[in-house]
Amino acid sequence: MENISQSVLRYQSGFCNDFASEALPGALPAAQNSPQKVSYGLYAEQLSGTAFTAPRAHNRRTWLYRIRPAAMHHAFESLAQPTLRSAPFHQVAVSPNQLRWDPLSIPTEPTDFVDGLTTMAGNGDAAMQAGIAIHLYVANRSMHDRFFYDADGELLIVPQQGRLLAHTEMGALDVKPGEIIVIPRGVRFRIELPDGEARGYVCENYGAPFQLPELGPIGSNGLANARDFLAPVAAYEEREGDFQLVAKFGGKLWTAAIDHSPLDVVAWHGNYTPYKYDLSRFNTINTVSFDHPDPSIFTVLTSPSDTVGTANVDFVIFPPRWMVAENTFRPPWFHRNVMSEYMGLIHGAYDAKAEGFVPGGGSLHNCMSGHGPDAATFEKASNAALAPHRIDNTLAFMFESRYVIHPTQLAMDTPLLQRNYLACWHGLKKNFNGQP
Ligand SMILES: [Fe+2]
Repeated sequence: MENISQSVLRYQSGFCNDFASEALPGALPAAQNSPQKVSYGLYAEQLSGTAFTAPRAHNRRTWLYRIRPAAMHHAFESLAQPTLRSAPFHQVAVSPNQLRWDPLSIPTEPTDFVDGLTTMAGNGDAAMQAGIAIHLYVANRSMHDRFFYDADGELLIVPQQGRLLAHTEMGALDVKPGEIIVIPRGVRFRIELPDGEARGYVCENYGAPFQLPELGPIGSNGLANARDFLAPVAAYEEREGDFQLVAKFGGKLWTAAIDHSPLDVVAWHGNYTPYKYDLSRFNTINTVSFDHPDPSIFTVLTSPSDTVGTANVDFVIFPPRWMVAENTFRPPWFHRNVMSEYMGLIHGAYDAKAEGFVPGGGSLHNCMSGHGPDAATFEKASNAALAPHRIDNTLAFMFESRYVIHPTQLAMDTPLLQRNYLACWHGLKKNFNGQP
């Protein structure tokens, strides 16, 4: 039996609204979550992404009306994945050194999205629902008979090369570089590669689900607007065979045999859904007078911690924008930060570095480690004519966390680690001579 409605690529607009969607007419029960009998013989199942008792404004759950309940699979067994790591990250002693890496190559062996995850760094403790892991992915094989879910965290996927087509329990989402996709904790999915190859970044968020940042004095519009977030519509696979259900649970991968596609949700309603967002829709706000505001003005999504204003992780972007500040050193300033910063580059060049930070690569500046523009950038920006200038063809991002980010053993041993990174600041001249 093979009946796939998953080719549907339509979206519903809004950020974690209480969406309702059905792939067959009348499949969604009206006015009730779990009627005695669901139409089409479907099973009702609730998927809770927050505690039952979480405040209403933060409560996330979705009701799924599916062909078979999620419990129907065989026993899980441990699955080896040598490049995947999970919190707590104590493989190597974390140092205050500034670190930077070149990109991973696309593999030559057949590698799907799960096989192709390589953990670079992380913090916190998955079991305590705090912290993040930072993975890269490289893949050249679509997942067809293999399905994945992550019980340890939600997955913020940032494609850098190649499109992804994510088939999930709630429907399908297509994303390309310049867009992001978020797959909530526990949601089952498989990823196809329409371009044959793909590379990108993943923030596995062990903490509270990502939400939109508060806007404060900015007002009721701006930054990432809720209407630009897109959730899928219901689409199901009625498909039987010898399939694999892979789980990340307790910091490890597990695999179970399953004789049907778990993407068999015919209708659903709720606010716990995967979503996509086109980063070019970001309404960038910045100074129109002087100075370089804190990069928090570029926050797309935030996962709050228990301390107000101090994120478990923020997802921040550095998009194309006009630079108009007067009498100002316009690139990011030299600084040290109590928060720890991992940066990646989707395309183009980042305005604080003349060279060495390349698309697909990454950098890590941990708590209180000094960083900022390299010598060439400092020289150029200190003498630039301050006419309005558009920074174009660039898209960098940052995962910024309150917790120190520990690199993995692999990240410290790989030849991709740039062992001369510190040299980018060594050319900064001593200009002080006691004279103003
Ligand atoms: Fe920084």
